[in-house]
Amino acid sequence: MKTLADELFREFREHSVSEFFRKNAAMLGYTGKVRSLTTVIHEAVTNSLDACEEAGIPPDVVVEIKRMDEDPEHLRVAVEDNGPGIPERFIPSVFGKMLAGTKLHRMLQQRGQQGIGISGAVMFAQITSGKPALVRTSTGDGKVVEVEVSINVDRNEGEIHTKRVVEGKWKGTRIELELKEVSYQRSRYSPFHYLRMTSVANPHARITLEEPDGNRMVFERVVKEVPKPPEPMPLYPKGLMADDLLILCRASKSRTVAGTLTAELSRMTRQKVEEAERLSGVRLDKKPRELTWEEAERIVKAFKQMKFMAPSSSGLRPIGREHIEKSLRQMYEPEFAVAVTREPKFYRGGIPFVVELGMAYGGKAGKGEEEGGGGMELLRFANRAPLVFDQGGCVITSALRDIDWGRYSLNPELSPLTIFVNFCSAYVPYTSAGKQSIADEPEIYEELRFAAMDAARELRFYLHRKIRQREREQRAGIFEKFLPIIAKRASSLAGEEPPDIRPVLKKVTGLESDGGE
Ligand SMILES: Nc1ncnc2c1ncn2[C@@H]1O[C@H](COP(=O)(O)OP(=O)(O)OP(=O)(O)O)[C@@H](O)[C@H]1O
Ligand SMILES: [Mg+2]
Repeated sequence: MKTLADELFREFREHSVSEFFRKNAAMLGYTGKVRSLTTVIHEAVTNSLDACEEAGIPPDVVVEIKRMDEDPEHLRVAVEDNGPGIPERFIPSVFGKMLAGTKLHRMLQQRGQQGIGISGAVMFAQITSGKPALVRTSTGDGKVVEVEVSINVDRNEGEIHTKRVVEGKWKGTRIELELKEVSYQRSRYSPFHYLRMTSVANPHARITLEEPDGNRMVFERVVKEVPKPPEPMPLYPKGLMADDLLILCRASKSRTVAGTLTAELSRMTRQKVEEAERLSGVRLDKKPRELTWEEAERIVKAFKQMKFMAPSSSGLRPIGREHIEKSLRQMYEPEFAVAVTREPKFYRGGIPFVVELGMAYGGKAGKGEEEGGGGMELLRFANRAPLVFDQGGCVITSALRDIDWGRYSLNPELSPLTIFVNFCSAYVPYTSAGKQSIADEPEIYEELRFAAMDAARELRFYLHRKIRQREREQRAGIFEKFLPIIAKRASSLAGEEPPDIRPVLKKVTGLESDGGE
């Protein structure tokens, strides 16, 4: 007999991850005409920079935005890099499969971490213009491959439509996407602003933007060295949850759980394995696949009681204090610039991170004209990638909002101040797949505050010095004006030659002087 449930469940279907994001593109940042365009560019540019850095190549990234016809919201975007290229057989998965990539499963400090960025952009192009992506890439083997690729949404797979292979010496990757319902402008949320910010945080990169009206501009590289490629940072035992451990064991190539632990976790020595075995009562010479949930829980609990060497943070690649300062000086021509790179810290029990913060005061710093001018401006970055949207929900914003700026002689509404913050970690705790704001982890919040206070203290020194200097100059002005007159009158009353007052002036004002008159 057929029940009502049988009837209702006739509609039961499975969906692919691509289908989910096709319907929920907003979760990947595709909302609004300006934001959607910036998001496409963000995804392509972060990939280019990641690829170049991993290969140790000084990045040279070109972004071209062209109009297709009289419709100003119909644009073609091309992003080209001089990176290592993509082997031909991976092209369908890179551009046509969601949750696929070289980053998802490695603890490496990179801009990408989900394996969904560029396929999301291909999807957006596909659903707005109906056109596949055009990809040209070469690994430097003398062959340049050019394909048209789209996403088969039902299967979450890439489909190649056309393919052409030509000989050539060029190496790198170029992707072209045709988009509709996007809008180009030069606001704070635009590709222009985004690339400008990218350039501040990546002084080793050269970035070119060609705007739809043909205007071409170059954000030049200001430092020569390419950052050292990031190094994998294995998970730290204390930061692990039972579920993480089971996943590691399931994917492990080791023959025993003990082998998996030493291979996959940091600071796991033979002695530590033995200690964990003793404390948890779980035999660790069993096959990794046979580990049960309860056993994993017991092992994780044992880890929490054990002492380990502090987690290693040597794989992190901060920008560095000097480079941040140099970039800020170059971009804002400020009166004063300062930057701090804090020591590595850990969140969630063992994930290492570094907070860097720079301040530029005066000059072109602070909120621009379009925002009413004056007041503090905040530039947020995660692993050198600008976070342009969702500022309100980000821990960087809340940590800085909670600073008592008055103590540093600063006023958020008035001070001409740009604050630059870069959060570095192999795992950035984003609040959503759109990767635009960082979750409120207590350790991160604290570190951000410390970094802000470190820099603000330096700035306060500068501001106080400036005030003292101004007072001294004012005082000097008064003496310079009146002392010569007094000296002249006094000497004429006394019937003497006027004395040389220059040494006296210098003494009272503390400034060199030509003696007035
Ligand atoms: N320009 C490029 N040069 C070389 N490899 C690339 C390039 N673009 C993408 N890839 C490869 O394709 C993979 C998928 O890219 P995608 O942007 O979808 O994900 P991701 O960068 O790994 O993570 P995220 O979703 O956070 O961006 C990358 O992991 C990388 O291996
Ligand atoms: Mg990416």
